[in-house]
Amino acid sequence: MAEYNLAVIPGDGVGPEVIAEGRKVLEAMAGGASGLSFNYADYPWGSDYYRETGMLMPEDGIEQLQSSDAILFGAVGDPNIPDHITLHGLLLPMRRRFDQGVCIRPSYLYPGVASPLAGKKAGDIDLVLFRENTEGEYAPVGGRLYGGTPYETVMQTNVFTRRGTERIIRAAFEYCVRRNKMMKVTSVTKSNAQSFGMVFWDEVFQDVATEFPQVETESLLVDRACMDLVRWPEIFDVMVASNLFADILSDIAAVVTGSMGLAPSANINPEKEHPSMFEPVHGAAFDITGKGIANPLATISAVAMMLDHLGESTSAQKLDEAVARCLNERRVLTPDLGGTATTGQVGDEVVRILRET
Ligand code: NAI
Ligand code: MG
Repeated sequence: MAEYNLAVIPGDGVGPEVIAEGRKVLEAMAGGASGLSFNYADYPWGSDYYRETGMLMPEDGIEQLQSSDAILFGAVGDPNIPDHITLHGLLLPMRRRFDQGVCIRPSYLYPGVASPLAGKKAGDIDLVLFRENTEGEYAPVGGRLYGGTPYETVMQTNVFTRRGTERIIRAAFEYCVRRNKMMKVTSVTKSNAQSFGMVFWDEVFQDVATEFPQVETESLLVDRACMDLVRWPEIFDVMVASNLFADILSDIAAVVTGSMGLAPSANINPEKEHPSMFEPVHGAAFDITGKGIANPLATISAVAMMLDHLGESTSAQKLDEAVARCLNERRVLTPDLGGTATTGQVGDEVVRILRET
């Protein structure tokens, strides 16, 4: 019997709606032949908590999470609180304090799902994006001087360390070799303009690449990479990029494979000194909050990534297959995929498929 302690932070917007389905699926997987059991610790952190306390999470929030085996996270963001406050009060500190430097974001065009791109069929898009997750453009380094005067001056600094850069690039190569598909890693930078940090990144990429002579490499400028993701996404296997660039690329990769509501994300602490965190790529989705139509499959796929990380690869695979079947059968889908089902009905459908197999 494997027992896991999970921290659950539903957060804001559609976060609680999709996390409820992630838990429903976890409960369906627990017990019986799987031998799995889960203890949940719920943390009501996020924007409502901020309205009450002035903080997105308590002072000792990180310490409270430290002993969990993994963290399941929904989203943060509130229409009435500036995004730089919500994001910097909970999600980004958690990624940094838990040293979750390796963010993995797979995008796959499933059978049954239509891409907005013409002529793409199932499997044509099958890429995994590796996002540096603790530094780069998201480092809170900068300042503001002489506010409200004509001399107002603002600086925002990108931070690239050798450790962080090598770690994400090496993780991308190692994954590419394990995956053994196209055996190609594409690095995305903007070295023509960002002549310090990004040139350094390119050098580290070339260094690490020498350890993997069997892997084909490619370096693209980010604008070109955005274009290629739209015009010929099938050329990509594993991609690796800085915090900001990979964030942008992962929204494009999600939407060309059918919906933001399908894209999962794993935030990994490779050294396993701290818990890793699993979440959908999407945010709070204000435009559909409370309507009960958010697609929970991104979260459910993130749950599968969590199970895989915990060493429960058989259960993870079973869950991935249930998601694929739900999509292929097209009986119960949310509106983003052309269906009429609710968030809860899609969760129920995945549970039904799990029970059947
Ligand atoms: P978003 O990802 O929340 O929404 C973008 C679009 O995708 C919207 O049209 C939304 O309806 C759709 N969408 C998102 N999730 C969906 C789902 N499960 N099913 C169906 N459709 C879905 O990005 P946006 O609008 O830029 O950000 C909204 C808020 O969320 C902001 O406050 C932002 O800062 C925050 N945010 C938080 C993130 C996180 O907590 N990890 C990530 C991205 C944004
Ligand atoms: Mg994003």
